[in-house]
Amino acid sequence: MAEKFKVLIADNLDQEGVDILNNSGLIEVDYRKKTSREELLEIIGNYDGLIIRSASKVDGPVVEKAARLKVVIRAGVGVDNINIPACSQKGIVVMNAPAGNSVSTAEQAIALMFALARKTPQANASMHAKQWEKSKFNGTQLTGKTIGVIGLGRIGKEVVKRAIGLQMRVLGFDPYIPRENLEYLQIELCSIDDIFSQADFITVHTPLTETTANLINRGNLNKLKKGVRLINCARGGIYEEAALAEGIRQGIIAGVGLDVFVEEPPKPDMPLYGIEEAVLTPHLGASTDEAQLEVAKETANSMVEFVKSGVARNSLNFPTFDPAEMGVLQPWFQLCEQVGSFAAQVMKKPLTSLQAEFRGEIVTRNLKPLEIALSKGVLTPALGDEVNLVNAPIFAKDRNLSISSTVVESSASEPSRMKLTLSDGDTTKVVVATADGTGGRIIAINDISVEFKPEGHILYIHNKDVPKVVGELGTLLGDSNVNIGSLQLGRASKGGVALTVISVDDAVPAPVLDKIRAKEYILESKYINL
Ligand code: NAD
Ligand code: MLT
Repeated sequence: MAEKFKVLIADNLDQEGVDILNNSGLIEVDYRKKTSREELLEIIGNYDGLIIRSASKVDGPVVEKAARLKVVIRAGVGVDNINIPACSQKGIVVMNAPAGNSVSTAEQAIALMFALARKTPQANASMHAKQWEKSKFNGTQLTGKTIGVIGLGRIGKEVVKRAIGLQMRVLGFDPYIPRENLEYLQIELCSIDDIFSQADFITVHTPLTETTANLINRGNLNKLKKGVRLINCARGGIYEEAALAEGIRQGIIAGVGLDVFVEEPPKPDMPLYGIEEAVLTPHLGASTDEAQLEVAKETANSMVEFVKSGVARNSLNFPTFDPAEMGVLQPWFQLCEQVGSFAAQVMKKPLTSLQAEFRGEIVTRNLKPLEIALSKGVLTPALGDEVNLVNAPIFAKDRNLSISSTVVESSASEPSRMKLTLSDGDTTKVVVATADGTGGRIIAINDISVEFKPEGHILYIHNKDVPKVVGELGTLLGDSNVNIGSLQLGRASKGGVALTVISVDDAVPAPVLDKIRAKEYILESKYINL
């Protein structure tokens, strides 16, 4: 029986997710709930797959020790605890499970907005201190107030819906989504400065990036509307923590509701500790039964799908396929890997560039994965198992190997074709190939029609079109105990240049190749192992 795919669940995951993995019959699960860094470093080398939440960190040293790891899935959205470039370099697929906790996180943002508006946490603390401070906790009404939503992705949109339900005026800002895609929200799409100057509440729902870090800082506090209340359920550091404390002291900010912090858990000197206007929660956005269940199911199903069919749903460093397209693309995928490998071996010198031109029905598909499969194929003869679909583009770039693809406008009824122009800097070759349900085939090389499957051991010969070629080559191979599986011939013109492609059962020994090359009618010959 084939060995099962070993998956470590290093952090807490809803049992239903664990059951999905176990019931797949494909996966051996090690569910540890909590794993210290030392333990992770010690054991990670034993697993093919890893599931984490926010506690475990997959940093450089962990990746280095992950000798057989093929996939990491973050049960949640944020992947700031995963070193994605290091994973990609090592060919490890990184995925997240982004959809399951959006609603709960949006609700947490709304909950913090209510808490800030009505000072509920402070009033609750006062009551538990057996006080009755009715006049101290006068609040503000939300209806009619303006809320600015920065980041209109999954969670931002959920917040917008709820704010509209509360009869608030909603301003939105997201420079990466085309305006027309947001118009259905029926909110005012505006600049960030408009939000700063007009909003009574601001809530951020972006990742922490160079453009969002310190979005509100000591330098721009004076752009904010006086009395604004700020909410962050996205990532610590989008608001500069010291600036928030300063803004509250200066009376510019009336309150902040934070679920996330620059450091988690924060150090004792975190600037907002001890400030009454700051309502703080320990990263609870996704901490509901419903979100945890959804995220666990999403994560486990993605892992099973990956193990079963190689599809990486929600991958952050691997081409994502529509599973419905897989059936059509599968033979092309295999063809691209094989033709890429053929291309790397057929040239006289190392390949420097490969340009693929697609035409026919195939151009209606997502072709990026095919370009990556070509890169993998080109690099496989040199790198073997070290290269995969995740790291192939990186390795190609490192080696100054240019691999690109274009499409030619063509009618959908035209047969699908891929034309590759290969160059080694000195010479070029043009290879045409196609694929269908029966598999992939090369159908022409340098304008000479010759049809063969790019697989196994191949003797590729460029020769003068003269009599005796086939007989002599057959005898030569036979005398050397090399069995011929099939032989394909093609020529540009009678008596001109011809192509002879011989599929053989085993590798062709170097002395046999030397004898072939010594024949006066041989222009070029190569043994190619695919
Ligand atoms: P998403 O990818 O669906 O949306 C993020 C949006 O931010 C995108 O539309 C993007 O275009 C936009 N954006 C990026 N840079 C921007 C900028 N400079 N200005 C304005 N918009 C910008 O992500 P999501 O699922 O909505 O998650 C949003 C954030 O919430 C992430 O940081 C995620 O890690 C965090 N999160 C937190 C919790 C929690 O427990 N507190 C739970 C889930 C997600
Ligand atoms: C996330 O990125 O999904 C959130 O931070 C939630 C979490 O993992 O707790």
